[in-house]
Amino acid sequence: IASPLVDQFQRRITYLRLSVTDRCDLRCAYCMPERMTFLPRKEVLTLDELHELSLGFIARGVTKLRLTGGEPLVRRDMVELVRALGRKLGDGLEELTLTTNGTRLAEFAEDLFAAGVRRINVSLDTLDRATFHRLSRRDSLPQVLEGLAAAKAAGLRVKLNTVALKGVNEGEIPQIIAWAHGQGFETTLIEVMPLGDVEEDRFDHYLPLSVVRDDLESRWTLRPSTHRSGGPARYFDVAETGGRLGLITPLTQNFCEGCNRIRVTATGQLYACLGGNEQVDLRAALRSEDPQAALDAALDTAMRIKPERHHFAIDKRGAAPALARHMSMTGG
Ligand code: GTP
Ligand code: 5AD
Ligand code: SF4
Repeated sequence: IASPLVDQFQRRITYLRLSVTDRCDLRCAYCMPERMTFLPRKEVLTLDELHELSLGFIARGVTKLRLTGGEPLVRRDMVELVRALGRKLGDGLEELTLTTNGTRLAEFAEDLFAAGVRRINVSLDTLDRATFHRLSRRDSLPQVLEGLAAAKAAGLRVKLNTVALKGVNEGEIPQIIAWAHGQGFETTLIEVMPLGDVEEDRFDHYLPLSVVRDDLESRWTLRPSTHRSGGPARYFDVAETGGRLGLITPLTQNFCEGCNRIRVTATGQLYACLGGNEQVDLRAALRSEDPQAALDAALDTAMRIKPERHHFAIDKRGAAPALARHMSMTGG
C-alpha cells in the first residue's frame, strides 16, 4: 500500500463502513422517529460512484468493507454493487459484508453468498412478535426469521445485533442469546447511543451492559475470548450454550483507542467518527476534474481530523442527543 491511512493517534484505518441508503423499511423507536425525513434520492451516490469510492479506499489499505444503511437491502441495485465489490476480494479486500435488519434476506441471501459475502450482521432486538411490532413499528418479525433461515441455508455466517433496552427486551436477553447460539449464530449486545431525535427519551430505555453482564454471569460461565472481528465488540464464550457473545459498550467502556474505522454516508460524506461532526465531502472529490487525486487528498484530510474518541453519555432525562444525526445516516 503506497500510503496507508493512519490518523494522528497512530491508528491505522482498515475498515470502511459505507452507507448505501439512509432509508429503512422499519422504524426502530431508539433509532428514528416514525415520520423520518429521508434524503432526496438525487443526492445519493450512484452505484458507479460507490464503487469508485470503495476502490479508492481499498487502494489506501482498507481491507474490510461493510455496507450499511438505513437498510442496505432496500436499495434497488444493491446486489449489483455487492457483485462489483466482490471482485476485489483477494485483491486488496479481505472481507465484504453487510449489516441488515433481515427483512429482505430471504430474497437476497443466495445472491450475497454468490458474490463473495461470507458473514453478515443482522439486527434483531426481540423474538417476540408483539414486542418487535411495537419497537420497530412494523409487524416484520416473521419475515426476519425467514431471512435468517435463508441466510443460514445459503451458507452465510450470521451475527445477531441486539440493542439492550430497559423495559423492552431486558428480560428476554438470555433467551435471545440461547436461541441464537442454538441456531449457530453469534450474538452481540449493544448499548443504545444518543444519536438523533426520537419520540422517546433514550434515558428511559438505556441499559448499561455492565448490568446485563452481571445478570448473564449469574446464569452462565462467560469466558473472555481472544476472538476479534475487527469491530468494537469484546467477545466472550458462553460455556453453557457453546456460542460466542460480543459486547459493544460505547457508554460504559470506551473502545475508541483501538478504532480502525471510518464511515461514509450515502451522499458521500465521510464522518471521521460516529460520535463527532468532523466530516469531509467525498462526493465533491468524486465529481471533480481529477477524482483519484481529490479523493486521496480528502482521505488525508480525514486522517488529520479524526478525533481521539467520542463522548457519549445518557445520564439524565430530557437531555438533547449528543448529535443531531441519526444512526441511519452513517449506518452505525
Ligand atoms: P463486526 O465486523 O462483526 O465486528 O461488526 P461491527 O460491530 O463492526 O458492525 P455492526 O454494523 O454490526 O455494528 C454493531 C454496532 O456497533 C452498531 O450499533 C454500530 O453503531 C456500533 N459501532 C460500530 N463502530 C463503532 C464505533 O466506532 N463507535 C461506536 N460508538 N459504535 C460503533
Ligand atoms: N444506538 C445504538 N444502536 C443503534 N442502532 C441504530 N440506532 C442505534 C442507536 N441510537 C443499531 C441497530 C443496528 C446497528 C447497525 O445499529 O439496531 O443493529
Ligand atoms: Fe432501520 Fe436499523 Fe434504524 Fe431499525 S435500527 S429503523 S432497522 S436503520
